[in-house]
Amino acid sequence: MTTALITGAAGAIGQAIAAALGAAGMRLALADSSLAGLDAGEGITTHRLDVTDDDSCNAVVSAAAQAHGELSLLVNAAGIMVRRTALETDVATFQHVLDVNLTGAYRMAKAAHAALADSRGSIVSISSTHAFLAAKNSLAYGVSKAGLSHLTRLLALEWAADGIRVNAVAPTVVPSAMTEDVLADPAYVSRKMAAIPLGAPIATEHVAAAVAYLASSAAASTTGQILVLDGGESLA
Ligand SMILES: NC(=O)c1ccc[n+]([C@@H]2O[C@H](COP(=O)([O-])OP(=O)(O)OC[C@H]3O[C@@H](n4cnc5c(N)ncnc54)[C@H](O)[C@@H]3O)[C@@H](O)[C@H]2O)c1
Repeated sequence: MTTALITGAAGAIGQAIAAALGAAGMRLALADSSLAGLDAGEGITTHRLDVTDDDSCNAVVSAAAQAHGELSLLVNAAGIMVRRTALETDVATFQHVLDVNLTGAYRMAKAAHAALADSRGSIVSISSTHAFLAAKNSLAYGVSKAGLSHLTRLLALEWAADGIRVNAVAPTVVPSAMTEDVLADPAYVSRKMAAIPLGAPIATEHVAAAVAYLASSAAASTTGQILVLDGGESLA
């Protein structure tokens, strides 16, 4: 396992994943729709990517594999959140959230399949507790993450014969641009922390450590699994 392609690499979770995988000695291809804050360097390339576009996904996978000589890990961390109820969500918004969070991961997985089969590599996607805990104000996001979790299981089943493991992590709330609005709301924070037995948001470093574990040879027997990082939120 030597080269990782990370989508959503400019985000808070993507940056933490890049730091953890870089510290583990991997070469990195950092991809995002915004390159702000992404620096190329020794063993690190940066790529502008739109996961809603087939050509962009194919081009970034090719460029990353060519630049580093191989590709052994795809991390799907690109994502968007829209905090709206079912009736507030119009169909175009619903489709866009699914296009980024679910179809985007599928596009990237298909684009990377041949390279990952060559390297006997793996995929780790960032799902969410929204995949299995119903929340009232994020309909499209919840549906997209439920789809992403099941995509993980289906790809794991289909691609095991190609030597590709496919797993996901499912955190509850993590401090990032995606959650700065709700984490600035004292009512949300007290309600949410009361629902999390360990009483704290999930650190980006903990998400990154889970990704690094699932990508490592220590997890060589693990595929199709969703590692939940929720401080016990789903226990009650
Ligand atoms: N923050 C949380 O509480 C939380 C919890 C569970 C899961 N997640 C998931 O973790 C992942 C990372 O989120 P984050 O918290 O770091 O948020 P973030 O907003 O900091 O990062 C998301 C990144 O995705 C990129 N992106 C958005 N649309 C894209 C597109 N079409 N093509 C390429 N890149 C695109 C953005 O530019 C951004 O850099 C997301 O999939 C998110 O759903 C976040």
